Amino acid sequence: MPRSTNLLRIDPERMRTAFDALAQIGATAEGGLNRPTFSPEHLAARKWFAGQIQKAGLEFRTDGAGNHSAFLACGPKDAPSLLLGSHLDSVPNGGRYDGALGVMAAFEVLRTIQAAGLKLKVNLETIDFTDEEGTLVGLLGSAALAGHLEPEWLQNPRGGRAALVEGMKRAGLSDESVLGAARRPESIAGYLELHIEQGKRLERAGVDIGIVSAIIGISSYRLTFLGRADHAGTTTMQDRLDASQGASAFTLAARELVLTDFPDCVVNVGRMDFAPGAFNIVPAHVELWLEFRAPDETSVQRLDSALIIRARAEAERFGLDLKVDFLGRHAPTPMAEATQLAFAAACDALGFTHMPLVSDAGHDGQSLAKICPVGMIFVPSVDGASHAPREFTEWQDCVNGADVLLQAAVRLAG
Ligand code: GLV
Ligand code: MN
Ligand code: MN
Repeated sequence: MPRSTNLLRIDPERMRTAFDALAQIGATAEGGLNRPTFSPEHLAARKWFAGQIQKAGLEFRTDGAGNHSAFLACGPKDAPSLLLGSHLDSVPNGGRYDGALGVMAAFEVLRTIQAAGLKLKVNLETIDFTDEEGTLVGLLGSAALAGHLEPEWLQNPRGGRAALVEGMKRAGLSDESVLGAARRPESIAGYLELHIEQGKRLERAGVDIGIVSAIIGISSYRLTFLGRADHAGTTTMQDRLDASQGASAFTLAARELVLTDFPDCVVNVGRMDFAPGAFNIVPAHVELWLEFRAPDETSVQRLDSALIIRARAEAERFGLDLKVDFLGRHAPTPMAEATQLAFAAACDALGFTHMPLVSDAGHDGQSLAKICPVGMIFVPSVDGASHAPREFTEWQDCVNGADVLLQAAVRLAG
């Protein structure tokens, strides 16, 4: 496909300066960053972003869920907004690109359109969604904005109710403000996001841009295996009700189950907490954090019940009880055809190769797709690394992605 040379482009230097400055906030010695939702570093990053928005002469907006955005009135006064964005929170000890690249690229797109004085049919808004990563709830800001946040998610969140209440307080938010943050669906024209792939498919294929066709479904549970504390020396192996045995056996069984019966799914035990937690006490309780992902609704349902049946069976095998807390789910979500076509046309015009990809990571588009057309693109992740400090994407790939985002936004907004 011949490449057009007269297309509007982002300013790579300006985007790099902003990206590097942001990466200093919460930077870790290993070269990654640590900005869990509402941590001091996360709040500092949001404050920095608010300052950048004002410095750029864009309108700063925020809402009851703590979503931060830059608004550019490039369309008629009451026209809806096309949202472009991602998130500034990170997983604990994560990388510099996950979320941050999408926000900085979207911000750069607005600045480019602002500088060019383009008049479009809709307004544009760069948005940083609250708690995409699920330190507290998961897709919190986007679900609230889309009006699909279930009040129960706030009562029994992934990160625990106490952490959520404390975090919301630090950010000046409350249950009421978050639940009141829904926007009118008619006020949103669509949502576009640039993200790193977080996998190896683009790198292996040598392709510039991944056009996301769908986002995988994600469910999470807190499982507590309940046994009995006993003296670890004087209680025979036969007499123990050891919660660690059930939790460990289940972890291995879950892996086998997915490998054997659900080859297109994944399961993760991300944490186990032992109580009382001493060398010389048989563990009375083990709390296990479980997440699984599946590409379609049928697999979500089948894997869900298979995992819970397995957990009960392993608990029973070791004489334990099991407490099951369901912590919420994000459904498998197809991307809108119009956005995929706009991204493909933008790639073609810019001379970039592209391929369709299913996203194995969760994203805020899963919330937005309930009320508007959503589209996402990926740029290559070196060695597929993500949710770790070694996460890296070549800068030219970041620039390419931002240019595709710009061109697709102009096509969809114009
Ligand atoms: C978000 O990055 C997720 O997929 O957990
Ligand atoms: Mn992300
Ligand atoms: Mn992530």
